[in-house]
Amino acid sequence: MAVRETVELDPDRIDSLIEEEEDELEPKHRVSIEYKKEVGRTVAGGVASSWQDSPPHTIFIDRGQGSRIWDLDGNAYTDFHLGYGAMVAGHAHPKIVEAVQRQAVRGTHFAQPTRDLDVVGENLVDRFALPLWRFCNSGTEATLEAVRLMRAATGRDLILKIEGSYHGHHDSLMFSVVPDPEQIGPREHPITLPQVPGIPQAFANLVRVVPFNDLDEVRRALDENDGKVAGMIVEPAMMNCGVIMPEPGYLQGLTDLLHQRGAFLAFDEVKTGATIAYGGAVEAFGVTPDVVTLAKAIGGGLPCGAIGATEELFGPVVSGEMDMAGTFNGNPLTLAASKATLTEVLTKDSYGHLNEIYHALEDGCEAAIERHGLPAYVTGLGAKGSVIYSATRVREYRDTVSIDERITYLAWLFQQNRGVFKSPWSKQETWTTSVQHSIEDAERYVANFDEFAAAITS
Ligand SMILES: Cc1ncc(COP(=O)(O)O)c(C=O)c1O
Repeated sequence: MAVRETVELDPDRIDSLIEEEEDELEPKHRVSIEYKKEVGRTVAGGVASSWQDSPPHTIFIDRGQGSRIWDLDGNAYTDFHLGYGAMVAGHAHPKIVEAVQRQAVRGTHFAQPTRDLDVVGENLVDRFALPLWRFCNSGTEATLEAVRLMRAATGRDLILKIEGSYHGHHDSLMFSVVPDPEQIGPREHPITLPQVPGIPQAFANLVRVVPFNDLDEVRRALDENDGKVAGMIVEPAMMNCGVIMPEPGYLQGLTDLLHQRGAFLAFDEVKTGATIAYGGAVEAFGVTPDVVTLAKAIGGGLPCGAIGATEELFGPVVSGEMDMAGTFNGNPLTLAASKATLTEVLTKDSYGHLNEIYHALEDGCEAAIERHGLPAYVTGLGAKGSVIYSATRVREYRDTVSIDERITYLAWLFQQNRGVFKSPWSKQETWTTSVQHSIEDAERYVANFDEFAAAITS
């Protein structure tokens, strides 16, 4: 990355801008704020999922159409949150609405296999180059099954995971997701830290954490645990610390290292799958792992999940020796939505449009960064991107801990106050776009970002 002239940001100015923007936002959400209190009488915390409750206050959504959503107070936004990246088809896409309506009147659940399985399976084989698939209902379930497949095939228990990655909320992997920098331990031996209370230490003992983009540290973990590692799960491009791309050779290097030790590699493509390219990270980076986990975008807005793997790994499932089960697995409504999404909406051609929107966002935000001397850069691919508030390129979670989270919060407030909905604020911002987003939508995002960059640097 070329070295650029950047300005030093004034912490007092950031604080006063935050105050101004919060004061402007609050009155716009009176209905949401009151309604949350009402809901809170019976629903814990007033929300269905903890990450729907983030500062400065929860915003309840009324409806969505195309690239737009409306909240309970009647405010309209261009949506770059897109349901944590699930709505790459955009809201209420006519093809998906029609497919769901057609299935709904024919019955929504049988817990017996139905007709769309073959088309969805074939499409996933075509995209991700793995021969066999099973279906589930969330990314969490998909990564749970991935870990179990690798453990079953090797008879080993230890799993390697990346520091700063999220793979869902089950006890096998909910470690070191956003670990406290005070507690993370040395880089060559990160401490496996449960993300929430209630996860037994016994599970932590089965997970070894390593930094992203560092093959030597994976080699070290394998050497120190010779014959004990079942496999490694990795988001091929990290999506929960902003976007962090894999360095050239990293993903192939992981495959080689793990295979040399009789262990497996799983790509968690819950966020990258069918979003950064037609074949997700498998296509974008040209590496096929032993397992791929999917969810979010492949369901067109219905709860979904899928696990793809080699014949070797699926062997015990196919033979019936190992159950991979769930009442709602392969639910016909989800399959109808998936079939429409994968074969009629997120077609090969649609990725040209997503890349065009990405480049409009990247070029526009980079120009604003340059113009105002903001210490930041843009990174991403296809439907996914982010501004990283660092003057130097971030390679792994530990590079992000010194980034001032008030900057991303302020950036979020600026967008929210100017009609762009972003994912509930987190330390690193990420956007998702849909096939129904337009260049004008991207320009709106860029105009807001430019205003933010001017304000924070002046
Ligand atoms: C990379 C990754 N894996 C797994 C999950 C869990 O998916 P779900 O929320 O559908 O359980 C997420 C959710 O954001 C994710 O980002």
